[in-house]
Amino acid sequence: MKLELRQVSKSFGSRTVLSGLDLQVQAGEVVSFIGSSGSGKTTLLRCVNLLEPIDDGAILLDGEEISQIGLDPNPIRRRIGIVFQSFNLFPHMSVQRNITLALTQVLGKSPEEANDSAKTLLARFGLVEKIDSYPDQLSGGQQQRVAIVRALAMNPEVLLLDEITSALDPELVGEVLDVVRELKGSGITMLIATHEMNFAQEISDRVCFLDGGRIAEQGQPKQIFASPTDDRTKQFLRRVNFK
Ligand SMILES: Nc1ncnc2c1ncn2[C@@H]1O[C@H](COP(=O)(O)OP(=O)(O)O)[C@@H](O)[C@H]1O
Ligand SMILES: [Mg+2]
Repeated sequence: MKLELRQVSKSFGSRTVLSGLDLQVQAGEVVSFIGSSGSGKTTLLRCVNLLEPIDDGAILLDGEEISQIGLDPNPIRRRIGIVFQSFNLFPHMSVQRNITLALTQVLGKSPEEANDSAKTLLARFGLVEKIDSYPDQLSGGQQQRVAIVRALAMNPEVLLLDEITSALDPELVGEVLDVVRELKGSGITMLIATHEMNFAQEISDRVCFLDGGRIAEQGQPKQIFASPTDDRTKQFLRRVNFK
């Protein structure tokens, strides 16, 4: 699986957010997106998941243009999972049901098969004892881990993670980042929008700095964080006290 963005542009009214953005992501690669608030990280991920239509350019998955107007987005969204800052679990459903809902209703799995998948994944991430709990009985960290499990249960090829620790108390950030660490190397491709610079440095194969609707600078984490070349990257890293 290879993901490619070609000259992708996206505006909201008169506000241009993505402006001829190019990106290629290889199968299994972990790419982080950093940049100021409003630089378009969320919009980029939402466009890849077809939650936002793009205005111009193309998004390709394994060479197939998924951004074509009129294409049914649902089969593509099954291949590309997304996890949001705000978890978005269904509050009136148990952890188990949150995970199995799409498995039974979208993938057509039997309830037994779906429950088995949910249990296996919850066990993998240390959550199996929460299987019958409801979201409001869980900590934010546990809720976010369940949200990641829910996305993973669909067996996506690509996982998009949008500031998944931003809504959490500091002491709960670690357990969520541990899940991502565990996933790295499992073969899944990950695109991660984050303001956790230390985490981006540790987890990423490549870091992209977004500015002005494009990737202003990209490279291996060591290069981006230790010796950025673009003035805007330097300024940003200074502003977030990373340099
Ligand atoms: N649905 C929307 N309608 C109007 N403006 C939006 C919408 N979504 C995002 N924007 C604007 O697009 C810009 C980029 O936002 P976003 O992609 O959320 O950036 P980031 O995730 O990097 O903070 C911001 O100026 C934001 O206000
Ligand atoms: Mg955002």
